[in-house]
Amino acid sequence: MLPLLLLLLPAVHGIDRVGPEPTLTLDPPLEGLVTASTFVLNQPHCVFENYSNAVVWLVVANNMGTSGFNNSMKPGTPETAFQGFPDKVSAYMTLNATLGSYPCPKPSQDITVLRVGSETSCAKDATRPTCNGPLPGPGPYWVKFLALEGSVPVAETDWSVPIMLRTAKPSSSISTGSGQSAGMIVITTILSILFAILLAGLVAMLVFCGSDSCGSSTFSKSDSVTVRRYNTHHVYDQPAARL
Ligand SMILES: *[C@@H]1O[C@H](CO)[C@@H](O)[C@H](O)[C@H]1NC(C)=O
Repeated sequence: MLPLLLLLLPAVHGIDRVGPEPTLTLDPPLEGLVTASTFVLNQPHCVFENYSNAVVWLVVANNMGTSGFNNSMKPGTPETAFQGFPDKVSAYMTLNATLGSYPCPKPSQDITVLRVGSETSCAKDATRPTCNGPLPGPGPYWVKFLALEGSVPVAETDWSVPIMLRTAKPSSSISTGSGQSAGMIVITTILSILFAILLAGLVAMLVFCGSDSCGSSTFSKSDSVTVRRYNTHHVYDQPAARL
C-alpha cells in the first residue's frame, strides 16, 4: 500500500523533482559572493533539459516560505511579489529565464552566475512584482528553481541550504575594533616615548643641577666639579700628611 502511495504522490503533485538544488558560487571564488543584500548563485545549467519550453523561476523564501510556498502560486501576482516580502508574503518569485539562457553543457570559459538582490530600481515599484530587489535583512534565506510551462509548474529543485547574508554590524565593528586597537598602540607608543623623554630630562636636570638653583648651568657645573676635585684632593692628601 505505502509503495503504491509513494508512486502515486508525484503524479498527484504533477511536478518533477530535479537536481541539483541552487548553490552559492564558490568556484571561481568571487569578490562579494555574499553582501549585506545580495548573494550569488550558480546558474541552473543542465537541470531542466527535459522541459525545453519551460520558463525557470527562482523562488526566494524565508523560513516560513519554505513550507508555506505553494508551487501553484503564480509569478507576477501579489502573493509572490517581491514588494510584499517578508511582511505580506514569505516567498517571492524572480529572475525568470528561458532555457536558452542556461545552455547545456555550460560554456566552459564563462562565469555564469545569478546575483540575487541586484535590482534596486524596482524594489518599491508595485507594478514590477518580479523585481530582483535587494534582500531585506541578514536572512537566512532558502532558494529553489521552479520551471513553469505556461502557468503550469512542471519541475522544481530542492530548496538550497540556508543562506545567511553579511551583516553590516559585525564587519564594521571588526574593522573599527582593529582600527581602534591599532590607534591605541600608536598613541600608547607615542605617549610612552614622550614620557621616557620627560623622565630622562628630569633625571638629567637632577644630576646636573644638584641642590643649587639651575640658572646658569655651565658655571655652577664647573664650580661643583672644582669643589669636588678640591675635596677629593684634600681627602687624598690628608692620610699622606699623617704618614
Ligand atoms: C519574465 O517575466 C516578466 C514579467 O512576467 C516578463 O515581462 C518577461 O518577458 C519574462 N522574461 C522571460 C525571459 O521570460
